[in-house]
Amino acid sequence: MGLGTYDDAGVVRLTPEIALIQTIDFFTPMVNDPHTFGRIAAVNALSDVYAMGGRPYTAMNLVCFPKKGMSIEVLKGILAGGFEAITEAGALLVGGHSVDDPEIKYGLSLTGLVHPEKVVTNSGARPNDLLVLTKPIGTGILTTALKARLLPNEAEEEAIFWMGTLNKNAAEAMQTVGVSACTDITGFGLLGHSLEMAAASHITLEIWASKVPLLSHVMDMLNMGMLPEGSGANRQFCAASVEIDARVNPLLVDCLADAQTSGGLLMAVSEAKLEVLIKELKQRNVFHAVIGRVLAPSDGRIVVIP
Ligand code: CO
Ligand code: CO
Ligand code: CO
Repeated sequence: MGLGTYDDAGVVRLTPEIALIQTIDFFTPMVNDPHTFGRIAAVNALSDVYAMGGRPYTAMNLVCFPKKGMSIEVLKGILAGGFEAITEAGALLVGGHSVDDPEIKYGLSLTGLVHPEKVVTNSGARPNDLLVLTKPIGTGILTTALKARLLPNEAEEEAIFWMGTLNKNAAEAMQTVGVSACTDITGFGLLGHSLEMAAASHITLEIWASKVPLLSHVMDMLNMGMLPEGSGANRQFCAASVEIDARVNPLLVDCLADAQTSGGLLMAVSEAKLEVLIKELKQRNVFHAVIGRVLAPSDGRIVVIP
């Protein structure tokens, strides 16, 4: 696969039956507990393998950690959290690399496997497909509020639960059914990643703002001004290609642009397969919401309606 379609990972065919998926992701902590951060960072990195329809095979730790001034227990916690997610994903930890750095960073370099004919790209969305999202939105807003110490405990727990949930079961359901396109929702937000899919697939996507599931407390926190910088940048970046119906609540648009950590999968699925996809997701206890549809061919646009 080439570099032209903004896909979630690199894919190389090795044999007629096996293609290699390669991806790497790491970042700074967004939560206080080391084990929780390690788990979230690993789940987030693994997500790009799932978004391509693959299964994680091997993982390597990427660590930036200060040699002085911080307890080694913190590093142990981060690595244990990451290992927990790697194990849950059924992948093997085979190594890693660490650098002395005053700012903590952690993530994974991953190799996954997929049948070359079962690779799910973001370029296959077709008119009349429906859009299915597998996690609620709002982790950027909530972690900003967490840093400002304004987030209620139960909202923190809810955000941690979703950020730490693997997209493994969602990807399995997707591969059982066969979908048109998929990407995972991370730093560019629902709007930004939808726009990548729209551009790669040469179609217009219609997003139904009121159907997009939000984490509880997101609206409260937005009303208090808790919008991360990256989310504002996302909205500006998308502005030229996104048409927003005047009836849509502007705060809801902020949510659509909110930079997500370890978000869900966004799938485009044909009308004929929607029902069976929902059945497969339900069977695996995967959260899901139908949040829009694919309109006509275009150069890649988004329309947001109430
Ligand atoms: Co991705
Ligand atoms: Co990524
Ligand atoms: Co080395």
